[in-house]
Amino acid sequence: MTKQLFIKTFGCQMNEHDTEKIAGILSNMGYSLTDSPDGADMIILNTCSVREKAEYKCYSDLGRLLELKKKNPDLVIGVGGCVAQQEGERIVQKAPYVDMVFGTDNIPDIPRLLEKKKGQRKGAVSTERRRKGLVPQGGTDLKSVPFPSEVSSLPIMRNHPVKAYVNIVDGCDKFCTYCVVPHTRGRERSRQPEDICREIEGLASAGYKEVTLLGQNVDSYGKDTGGHVDLAELLHRIHGISGIMSIRFVTSHPADFSDNLINSMKRLPRVCEHLHLPLQSGSDAILERMKRNYTYPEYRDKIRRLREAIPDVAVTTDIITGFPGESEEDFDKTLDAIEEIQYDNIFAFKYSRRPYTAARLYDGQVPREVSEERLSRVLEIQKRITLTKNQACIGRECDILIEGESKKDKKKLTGRTGGNKIVHIPVEEGISVGDFLRVRITSATHASLKGEVVRQGDGL
Ligand code: SAH
Ligand code: SF4
Ligand code: F3S
Repeated sequence: MTKQLFIKTFGCQMNEHDTEKIAGILSNMGYSLTDSPDGADMIILNTCSVREKAEYKCYSDLGRLLELKKKNPDLVIGVGGCVAQQEGERIVQKAPYVDMVFGTDNIPDIPRLLEKKKGQRKGAVSTERRRKGLVPQGGTDLKSVPFPSEVSSLPIMRNHPVKAYVNIVDGCDKFCTYCVVPHTRGRERSRQPEDICREIEGLASAGYKEVTLLGQNVDSYGKDTGGHVDLAELLHRIHGISGIMSIRFVTSHPADFSDNLINSMKRLPRVCEHLHLPLQSGSDAILERMKRNYTYPEYRDKIRRLREAIPDVAVTTDIITGFPGESEEDFDKTLDAIEEIQYDNIFAFKYSRRPYTAARLYDGQVPREVSEERLSRVLEIQKRITLTKNQACIGRECDILIEGESKKDKKKLTGRTGGNKIVHIPVEEGISVGDFLRVRITSATHASLKGEVVRQGDGL
């Protein structure tokens, strides 16, 4: 009988994609995925450290895993992801029953770590980064894994049959003063365009229809490799790969997002008409303290140019409330910005103090109740805007890629518009996952749209 593997993933799409790589390696070693931790032979937590709550979840889950380990001493427990990269072997000090710890760069080390499981060494975090002082001391001294060639050739067990994540750039050089990601993911490293295109050609011939290009800052793509192929040029190359009907990318950075990219988005019909451009705050004073390298007027200008070029483009953002020093006046500017830009959707978070970041030492830390209250105001305003935006879709026709059954209602199929809005349509004979359909939107809530099929789409 094959061994059962359970992986729990926290955090961003980058981590979700890492989970696909972990699953790929372990399935080559004879494990098969299960969706319950009970009875599993191996449990891996792929952790996130972006906010304190996410890190705390990792430790509370580890506490519960001790009970399973007591019942089954052969259970192998692994911790990967950003908390693992940040904490190294300190995790094993806190939870000695953990069998292996691997950093975000060290997924290819998993087979070796399993082999050595019985030995003393339990961890692998990239030493190159530790030398640069970017990762705290604590992990064991194993060699770092070069990126991208070795990582590119890893087996990947993809979670979805028609849409796929593809890493284009790893790490981040921005060091926004609140953010732990540059400390967990290290410096920016772009993959070679040929490697990316080869991977996507493989996906296309395996029947994938949509790719989402991933990077903490996709607009920086290519800067570290000489800049002859930037994101705009990469989109052109991917656009030429037959079979790929839809191309998305996250995350853009307002300081780097360029007119060049706007032009590519406009010219290339298979690039979805959606931009996720994190604003974080509408106050220039706060943006400066965050070290974001743009002002709100500059940001607003880029959105204006984007909308001029692509009138139907959907724009989404991230907002942080209660950053150190955020006054009621600063916060009002964030609310004004949200009203002015009219986002299709927002991810909003209350500021969380993170290790190694500059802002954790800043004056003016905002009380939690204040950040929470501001967060709820953002969410309330945005809920109304999202509803209005979604209702404006009623009567329109759009092309969607059918992704699967609706989670809540088996009589419905689910797809997404180019603007990344979820659309539910009734199950119909002859329609299956991977189809492109032209649908007419018939109703809308703030969470999703309903539609009816106009015709089988011919893609774009
Ligand atoms: N590279 C992306 C994603 C970073 S993490 C980007 O630049 O946007 C995703 C979001 O988490 C960020 O945009 C920010 O809004 C939020 N975030 C990051 N660190 C945070 C912190 N310390 N407290 C609260 N929110 C945070
Ligand atoms: Fe974090 Fe800023 Fe880099 Fe995004 S751009 S990952 S928020 S440091
Ligand atoms: Fe979290 Fe790491 Fe992603 S900290 S948000 S999993 S890069």
